[in-house]
Amino acid sequence: MNRVTTQRVLSYRALVAFAVAAAMAGAAWAQATGSGTKDAKAASKTKAAESKADAAGAEKKVLYARDVQPILRESCVQCHRAPGANQRGPGARAGARRGPGGAGGPGGGMRGPAGGLRLDDKVAILKGGKHGKAVVPGKGEESLLYKILKETVTVGDDEIEQMPKARPGHEFAALPEEQVELIKQWIDQGAK
Ligand code: HEC
Repeated sequence: MNRVTTQRVLSYRALVAFAVAAAMAGAAWAQATGSGTKDAKAASKTKAAESKADAAGAEKKVLYARDVQPILRESCVQCHRAPGANQRGPGARAGARRGPGGAGGPGGGMRGPAGGLRLDDKVAILKGGKHGKAVVPGKGEESLLYKILKETVTVGDDEIEQMPKARPGHEFAALPEEQVELIKQWIDQGAK
């Protein structure tokens, strides 16, 4: 009778020891993963704050790198970039022979960007081209960079066709309205 009790006590102790060990292991695991959970929480908080900022103010802040640059890259830069600036794209040397940026094409290739206007770099964009400044910060309506996307523009004696100029063998296609508006808003907001 006595023996049995002792045994029971022993096994009870073993059980407790096991439970404690398990609890400790569990705590260690929770600590290890807990930090991950915290990061995730912080990240979702940041996201929430961002979408709040987006929602606030009907006119959202247009960012050059996020909103404008991709449009120009997609539709303009092949003709409006520094000569020989791009070694990896379809331009570069191959483009110099067959692409729109090529020496024989409208881009002028090594002779420089079309219309003397580079659109591959913000500082260069603000400098303007053959017809002077294409961007008047704060004034989208007066900026050639915006006007030229809506219609053919006459500057002095020169008529400049609506952009993006069609590449040889392609039909002209105006930029989608929302892209044109983004560029206008970017200029209206100061072209920063
Ligand atoms: C296929 C080549 C090509 C593409 C693509 C192109 N352009 Fe042009 N761009 C030209 C040429 C060529 C001129 C010069 C034409 C002229 O003066 O009549 C020019 C002139 C301009 C000018 C006038 C610059 C000045 O000071 O005379 C602006 C502004 C302009 N482009 C903006 C754009 C924008 C914005 C895009 C993209 C949406 C674009 N272009 C896409 C070829 C191109």
